[in-house]
Amino acid sequence: MKQKRITVAIDGHSSCGKSTMAKALAKRVGYAYIDTGAMYRAVTLYCLEHDMIKGDEVNKPRLRRHIPKIEITFQVNEEGKSDTWLNGKNVEKEIRGMEVSNKVSLVSAIGFVRRAMVAQQQAMGKNKGIVMDGRDIGTAVFPDAELKVFVTASAKVRAQRRFDELLGKGETGINFDDILRNVEERDYIDSHREVNPLRQATDALVLDNSNITIAEQQQWLLQKYEEVVKS
Ligand code: DC
Repeated sequence: MKQKRITVAIDGHSSCGKSTMAKALAKRVGYAYIDTGAMYRAVTLYCLEHDMIKGDEVNKPRLRRHIPKIEITFQVNEEGKSDTWLNGKNVEKEIRGMEVSNKVSLVSAIGFVRRAMVAQQQAMGKNKGIVMDGRDIGTAVFPDAELKVFVTASAKVRAQRRFDELLGKGETGINFDDILRNVEERDYIDSHREVNPLRQATDALVLDNSNITIAEQQQWLLQKYEEVVKS
């Protein structure tokens, strides 16, 4: 019997390991994986490159005019990993740096930016067989997803993970306290914005991964996935 293909929505706080588990599941079951945070990061990079952000202010009228010109795609690189491309340029490294991280919550809080990204995400997932991670996947992008997971971990644990990740990528001049502040600020903005705030879907399964290993969380997700496809 052919197994049914489903939509897997993984939401949660920043740096809580959502993408690690989402990617691993997608690879294991042969689904596409979409990192929606990377899309908001790419729009933020575009804004920075076009001088549209001054302090905490985004030039919204200009950005609104530019939105149709922003093309974000994902391409698998030679290591088999998915890279984010912005208007024909690989921006995977740039979108993970602190400059983008410090501004992304401002850009992702803008209603017309969210509507444009959500429409693209819905198009990418229209045939199911997809694992998508973000903040509003189970609540706004795919409210009918068959499997919804809400992942969380303490802010300190998440800041430490991001710190280690940036160090591992060779970023220099990074400071743990700056990263912790960035994580806390983004939690606040993400959960308090007007449009599609970070919220747990009422039918999501909750996973606090502060004290479990990556292998354990992957096993947990795979088991939940199998329960749904076999039901
Ligand atoms: O997952 P991440 O840290 O790469 O996400 C970057 C930012 O984008 C984060 O501050 C919240 C925002 N985001 C969002 O608002 N909605 C999503 N679906 C994904 C990310």
